[in-house]
Amino acid sequence: MSDQFVLVTGAAGGQQGKTGRHVSELLLAGGVRVRAFVHKIDERSDRLRALGAEVVEGDFLDFHSVERAVRGISTVYFAYPVQAGLLDATAIMADAARKAGVTRLIDMVMLISSPDAPTPRMRQNYLSEQIFEWAGIGAAHVRATVFYENVRALTHTSLAKDGTILLPWGSESTVIPLVSGEDVARVSVGVLTAPSVPPGSS
Ligand SMILES: NC(=O)c1ccc[n+]([C@@H]2O[C@H](COP(=O)([O-])OP(=O)(O)OC[C@H]3O[C@@H](n4cnc5c(N)ncnc54)[C@H](OP(=O)(O)O)[C@@H]3O)[C@@H](O)[C@H]2O)c1
Repeated sequence: MSDQFVLVTGAAGGQQGKTGRHVSELLLAGGVRVRAFVHKIDERSDRLRALGAEVVEGDFLDFHSVERAVRGISTVYFAYPVQAGLLDATAIMADAARKAGVTRLIDMVMLISSPDAPTPRMRQNYLSEQIFEWAGIGAAHVRATVFYENVRALTHTSLAKDGTILLPWGSESTVIPLVSGEDVARVSVGVLTAPSVPPGSS
């Protein structure tokens, strides 16, 4: 077993790509110790515990639960779901991880993130990346295009009901590359366990 101890956030896996879930399972299968940060204890966290993870319950937006979760940790996988609160969650994790002596934080972000990106979340992703880099915790960023699991979530009701696929993606000629959350998790595990990762790389 590796002596690396990885805190995996979003470990239960939610409505999007379940990347934290896949990252946890892949790390455990590779003999890496995992502390699984879950929003609530339920059958998903029970399964992680059965696979060998140490499970901690907490909230990205509750400073003290994050502070407890990073104690004794060297490496963090950070994946804040697409919902309000990214910058608060980032600042909390950056501060707690810096104080705990974290040396690598792999940050799951959107493919495009810049001050001029077209959506508020992409612009927040850019700021979140800067905060993690300032924290001096070895932050690097995995950029992913849209998870195809989202298409399933967005279309399963209309497909079953009337055989239509309705997506809020502009004109019929829009081309959006898709990727699976599981494949993105594989890339993340490669970066989490690589011998070295230049801080700020993406
Ligand atoms: N969706 C996309 O197409 C896309 C594309 C590129 C990049 N990304 C990036 O991928 C990430 C999303 O990751 P994912 O697909 O692995 O998410 P996910 O499957 O939706 O999982 C989110 C996890 O976060 C937990 N969670 C939610 N609110 C929480 C809170 N306040 N405190 C603690 N845990 C909380 C959920 O737990 P519960 O279920 O118990 O609430 C769930 O386990 C984001 O960083 C996003 O920028 C997404």
